[in-house]
Amino acid sequence: GALPEATEIELIQPVRPIVLGFSQLGSESEWRMANTNSVKEAAKEAGIELLFENAEQSQEKQFEAIRSFIKRKVDVIAIAPVVHSGWDDILTEVKQAGIPLIISDRSVDVGDSSLYVTHIGADLYEEGRKAGKYLVDKMRDAAETIQIVELRGTEGSSPSIQRGQGFRDIVLKQPGYKIMASVDADFTFERGKEVMSTLLEQYGGEMDVLFAQNDDMALGAIEAIEEYGLRPGVDIVIISVDGTRRAFMKLAEGKINCIVECNPLLGPNMMQAVQELVAGRTLPKRIVPQESVYTEQMAKKEIPYRKY
Ligand code: AHR
Repeated sequence: GALPEATEIELIQPVRPIVLGFSQLGSESEWRMANTNSVKEAAKEAGIELLFENAEQSQEKQFEAIRSFIKRKVDVIAIAPVVHSGWDDILTEVKQAGIPLIISDRSVDVGDSSLYVTHIGADLYEEGRKAGKYLVDKMRDAAETIQIVELRGTEGSSPSIQRGQGFRDIVLKQPGYKIMASVDADFTFERGKEVMSTLLEQYGGEMDVLFAQNDDMALGAIEAIEEYGLRPGVDIVIISVDGTRRAFMKLAEGKINCIVECNPLLGPNMMQAVQELVAGRTLPKRIVPQESVYTEQMAKKEIPYRKY
């Protein structure tokens, strides 16, 4: 009889999934939780095997995680660095192992920028400038000196350094602005509340403005201000950074006056970068997500759309 027509035989080759090692710096804030979830979900969606390590604010632990990724011969390493400096040696180890490295969220201060392929994350300096510009605009008719207290994030971290610098580069160029206190509060709710209570005891009602370098500290500070008997957003103008849903609720209530957005949803960009690196393509050195500034008037309308 006639032979059956030749059918095409597809050769199904088992493809090894791409393996990504990600060293997350910790879980200090709601922003950080949203960032972690974004990375995990995007990895799952892209079919990328994710090795996730939480360093709990320790640079030393990040070194250990990175060395374990090198040992396991992952395809790509990504790190969200807890502090700005001290990365040259470990990143050199990664480079010598021939593994491409992505910096996510916070920046690193390294002598040789070829130690990483790309940095995906917000312009933290610009965020500080945006906070300053809002304040200068809001206070344009003020007659007296404007007394500011600042709650800073983790000591030595790039958002703390760069937001602080950006803010100063705007407000201190104006006459009549004074930063009366600037204290580390670790980007956490608890420390934000504690430090704000101490500052209120120290300065009483003398302060006009609080610049909180993230929402969690702002939310903690709001509790401290209310317990002290002052009205957040009215007696003390409050500017915060991040844009979590919880902070947006306070913005809608008028207890925060301005939020500078910092976008934690970096997972999809990260996975795309990983796939492109594995495919041998080159990437731009800097990938910056879109971010806005929100004031009280905009808050209510925006709440249903907040994703974190
Ligand atoms: O690096 C980003 C900052 O880290 C966020 O503003 C803060 O909430 C987080 O802890």
